[in-house]
Amino acid sequence: MMTKMTRSSGMPTAAIFRLGLVLAVLVVAGVFTLGVAYADPPEGQTYTGAKKCAACHFQQYMSWKKTKHAGTFLVLPEKYKKDPQCLKCHTTGYGEPSGFKDVATTPALAGNTCETCHGPGSKHEEIAKPFAQTKTLTEEQEKLVRGSIWLMVPKNVCVECHQVQGHGKRVPFDKE
Ligand code: HEC
Ligand code: HEC
Ligand code: HEC
Ligand code: HEC
Repeated sequence: MMTKMTRSSGMPTAAIFRLGLVLAVLVVAGVFTLGVAYADPPEGQTYTGAKKCAACHFQQYMSWKKTKHAGTFLVLPEKYKKDPQCLKCHTTGYGEPSGFKDVATTPALAGNTCETCHGPGSKHEEIAKPFAQTKTLTEEQEKLVRGSIWLMVPKNVCVECHQVQGHGKRVPFDKE
């Protein structure tokens, strides 16, 4: 009788313990896939341009190069290349202190570069530099480096530019 009681009252405890483990595993997994395991990147970073990122992220650079995001400034007809109305969606960081100004002063920020989606990365570069020759980062090092830039800036960044389909009607312009 006593044994039975212990067994039957022990079962839920074990089940709850196991559920707890499952939840813990899910939380850890969730934390990793959502990228919230890392600290928020430091404030006050400036835009560097994609070539700087390419030094350490060559693969990402090569695949970005092939997307239309790399050429969003080039598609602007000549007379719109200084039009603030167009530049906010067709360049990187337009209107921010270290963002795109014009082709002469900020050529590296023409088009939608890496920092359109990841945010400015000057401090990320500084923090990552000491590990540039390190093949495999320790957990601590990886946490430090990954925590210094956004996996994705925390706002619905895609929608800011891709509001609805049918650009022509939304932002009318002469194609010449
Ligand atoms: C000096 C080398 C270096 C430079 C320059 C650099 N990074 Fe990184 N970056 C790293 C390393 C190392 C990691 C850690 C992950 C890894 O090992 O690939 C990382 C991670 C990242 C991540 C993942 C963040 C996360 O939350 O997981 C993003 C996004 C990123 N970098 C974007 C950029 C962008 C954009 C630039 C240019 C503005 C840039 N990086 C410049 C070395 C660099
Ligand atoms: C700062 C503005 C801006 C942001 C932010 C932005 N885009 Fe774009 N995107 C553009 C512009 C402009 C084009 C069109 C370039 C062209 O047609 O030549 C484009 C093109 C594209 C294309 C077509 C690419 C191709 O090579 O055919 C896709 C897909 C896309 N964007 C997805 C996204 C996604 C997903 C996000 C968010 C992660 C995003 N965009 C964020 C401005 C932006
Ligand atoms: C709200 C963000 C936004 C603004 C403002 C904007 N664009 Fe775009 N543009 C886009 C996106 C996103 C695309 C990608 C495809 C689409 O949505 O049609 C694009 C695509 C283009 C294209 C290539 C495709 C096509 O329709 O020929 C040209 C050219 C273009 N835009 C010119 C301009 C000009 C000129 C202005 C200023 C008068 C401007 N854009 C303002 C977001 C914007
Ligand atoms: C249109 C938005 C956009 C642009 C432009 C963009 N990225 Fe990303 N990048 C993302 C998103 C979204 C993810 C996360 C998706 C995923 O989980 O793979 C990501 C992931 C990454 C990662 C993390 C990979 C890992 O394994 O942890 C690195 C590093 C990175 N990008 C670097 C770059 C670099 C360098 C450029 C420019 C050459 C660039 N990205 C341009 C949206 C963008």
